[in-house]
Amino acid sequence: MNNKELSAAIRQLCKEKNAVIFAHYYTRPEIQEIADFVGDSLALAQQATRVHADILVMCGVHFMGETMKILCPEKKVLVPDMAAGCSLADSCNAQDLALFKAQHPDHMVVSYVNTTADVKALTDVVVTSSNAKKIIDQLPKDAKIIFGPDYNLGNYINSVTGREMLLWNGACHVHSRFSQEALLQLKKENPGVEVLAHPECKAPILAQSDVIGSTKALLEHTIKSSAKRFIIATESGILFEMQRACPDKQFIPVPPEMTEGMGCSCNECEYMRMNTLEKVYNCLLNESPEMHVNKETARKAVSSINRMLEMS
Ligand code: 13P
Ligand code: SF4
Repeated sequence: MNNKELSAAIRQLCKEKNAVIFAHYYTRPEIQEIADFVGDSLALAQQATRVHADILVMCGVHFMGETMKILCPEKKVLVPDMAAGCSLADSCNAQDLALFKAQHPDHMVVSYVNTTADVKALTDVVVTSSNAKKIIDQLPKDAKIIFGPDYNLGNYINSVTGREMLLWNGACHVHSRFSQEALLQLKKENPGVEVLAHPECKAPILAQSDVIGSTKALLEHTIKSSAKRFIIATESGILFEMQRACPDKQFIPVPPEMTEGMGCSCNECEYMRMNTLEKVYNCLLNESPEMHVNKETARKAVSSINRMLEMS
């Protein structure tokens, strides 16, 4: 089947099986096109709790499927490729976090949503890049906080809230690699351009940016801004939605630094790109692979996710 036929077959399967497709902004354009909901990690989690469907298909990465299953345990949650991981989630394992917590018994744990269910189970409140500042602002002023796993996001939140959270030293391999030199050059070549960055980028990139926010916040900014040109420092999948929403505006992606030994010179998340139309079709047809989360882990993790939803 070609892409057009696959897309039609997927929509037909959704109708027959009462299934709903969710896609993150970083997925391939053809996946975003067939999805019922496209959003950032907060919007996808919120939407999952509102839909009436028997099957939820999460086109994103593994932790997004896990979060969906934890929030909707009675629904069948399918993920097109179980191997679609996340370098950021991988940078914090539950055993190491448990040890760190034990060394800091007076600290509460705030975790970014890009974490495994096991890490969420050790967490007091989950945040996303959309709501991190809002949630941290609501915590008691004297609260001692461990924030993980994204160092760059934590460092940024410390700077805008005046907190001194203890930061885990994790990072996303896509966002931590944007080239500061290339960004400065692009700004010089495009006077008057607005620079938009995701808070997972390193501090020197954020310091050069006009707007810092989640994928959804950046997209909304491009729609309401009077600027005609934007430099984008986040995964390049978002450019599809930006261009679709603003066909008369120009979007310039920041390239990554060329690091020796790292083959990829693009700003794409290879895990997000593992979602293909063929895999979505097959997972709907076979109702597999299905996401399962250990019941006890899910019971502990759901309270930290629900706390986030209440505080958002
Ligand atoms: P958002 O919360 O902005 O959707 O980002 C998720 C993510 O994986 C960023 O790399
Ligand atoms: Fe994880 Fe980075 Fe990919 Fe986002 S872009 S899913 S943080 S690896």
